Amino acid sequence: MEKKRLIWIVDFGSQYTQLITRKTRELGFSSEIITFDDCQERFLKNDRPEALVLSGGPQSVFDDQTDYSFIFDQDKLPILGICYGMQLIGKHFGGTVEKGTLGEYGHATIEILDGQKITGCPSEINVWMSHSDHVVIPPQDFEILMKSHNNLIACIKHKKRPLMGLQFHPEVEHSEHGKDILDSFYAEMAGLEKDWTEEQMLKEAKDLVTGIGDSKVLCAFSGGVDSLVAATLSHEVIGENLHCFFVDNGLLRPQDYNHIDLLKEKTPLNIEIIDAKEIFYKALKDLSEPEQKRKAIGRTFIEIFEQKVHDYEKSHGFKFEYLLQGTLYPDVIESISPHKKGGKSVTIKSHHNVGGLPERMNMKLLEPLRLLFKDEVRKIGLELNLNPDWVYRHPFPGPGIGIRIMGEVIPDRVRIVQQSDQVLFEELHNFNLYQAIWQAFTVHLPVKTVGVKGDARAYEEVVCVRLVNSSDGMTAIWSDVPQKFLQKVSSRIVNEVEGITRVVYDITSKPPGTIEWE
Ligand code: XMP
Repeated sequence: MEKKRLIWIVDFGSQYTQLITRKTRELGFSSEIITFDDCQERFLKNDRPEALVLSGGPQSVFDDQTDYSFIFDQDKLPILGICYGMQLIGKHFGGTVEKGTLGEYGHATIEILDGQKITGCPSEINVWMSHSDHVVIPPQDFEILMKSHNNLIACIKHKKRPLMGLQFHPEVEHSEHGKDILDSFYAEMAGLEKDWTEEQMLKEAKDLVTGIGDSKVLCAFSGGVDSLVAATLSHEVIGENLHCFFVDNGLLRPQDYNHIDLLKEKTPLNIEIIDAKEIFYKALKDLSEPEQKRKAIGRTFIEIFEQKVHDYEKSHGFKFEYLLQGTLYPDVIESISPHKKGGKSVTIKSHHNVGGLPERMNMKLLEPLRLLFKDEVRKIGLELNLNPDWVYRHPFPGPGIGIRIMGEVIPDRVRIVQQSDQVLFEELHNFNLYQAIWQAFTVHLPVKTVGVKGDARAYEEVVCVRLVNSSDGMTAIWSDVPQKFLQKVSSRIVNEVEGITRVVYDITSKPPGTIEWE
């Protein structure tokens, strides 16, 4: 059974709402993101959390006519308002809020005023402060806890009730001691006991699987951390009723082949490998435009999978009822966000995993990780005794090296990316850098350049090395790695990979670049 979450985080559209939830859970308090409409509905049904966080948001309180009494009238309910949330508190309780520059943030040094205290937090800290609307005179019965060096109110709290407002974001990295501030609100002001542990997460994930009884379950298995953890915990519940299909699209790296061999050998999972290399190469023939390539890979994957499932069901004499997917909480939140409704978003890249499969195949979805963030999935992976090397593997995209070969995918270019990637992978381990980097790969560039190999002139192509650091892939910075490492990788690629005379290093962050080249 899903345990009731202690803390509800009401999403007013801040880009940091997920981060508040993650930090809250890292502190050991269960929490979930909900929309304002959901919050209102639940309160109407007398369903309440132990504490409520009102997130920041892009709008101005001056344009908001909503009546928040149903929240603020709960005089025992601990409430933390962050930026927009703080202004809602300020406005509702009769303080003075002044208009600011919407959407602007900056570093600020703030000070905890004499006589005030936050456990674990020094009296002066640097934070990421909002320049949007701000409270200039706190409401009656509120006191000021922190002020910025340029005299703006940074934190207010009610003198008797558990109500606090912050003009800055405690959840972002740029805010020092942000976690102490959140912890002090949850543990001291709200008096909550920590309840979010690896065992609890794993138990809830397994409960979701227990509910399906004796059904046959199919997993589109990539060997990445999400599908591995989803499959392993499901196997612990339903055993042999779980069948994993791994599609070899010919766009994998040597490390992926080794990994899947190892998983077959070392885990109890029933993994069926489907060799579909030639079919993928055929589908990609003559295609060089990135979106066309992505779509062809996605389409081919679904066709092969569908056919294989059909054959398998026929030969085994049963039907699969569920498709197991490693969907994570950010995807779930994305699909319920009120700010997505009717909003226009531009497709930068059409992501391919197993999208479209469930509808086509008339199966129900089984998503035991749907309430977890990636770092939580890793934690329960370790709890399941999976090898840490498997749990901390770098992400690898569904279309594989098909989007790391610029232009048409032809087998010789696949070879170049596979060999160069293997060199990079080995050297990351030799230099003990693998875990310090978020994602690392090589890209083939079909550009001819002149070089010297041995004593002869060479006129060959280019490999680009791409290393990035990120926390979720949404933004990324290129990794500043030791020169000696780059030297080694470059000289090994030029010497060991036939057809390559030059290696370049990508120094583009995201934005404006994306992580993958296509
Ligand atoms: P971009 O290139 O959009 O990539 O900056 C962000 C992260 O997503 C991965 N990626 C994908 N993952 N299917 C996936 O499962 C895809 O189609 C796909 N395209 C990009 C990319 O490797 C990076 O981690």
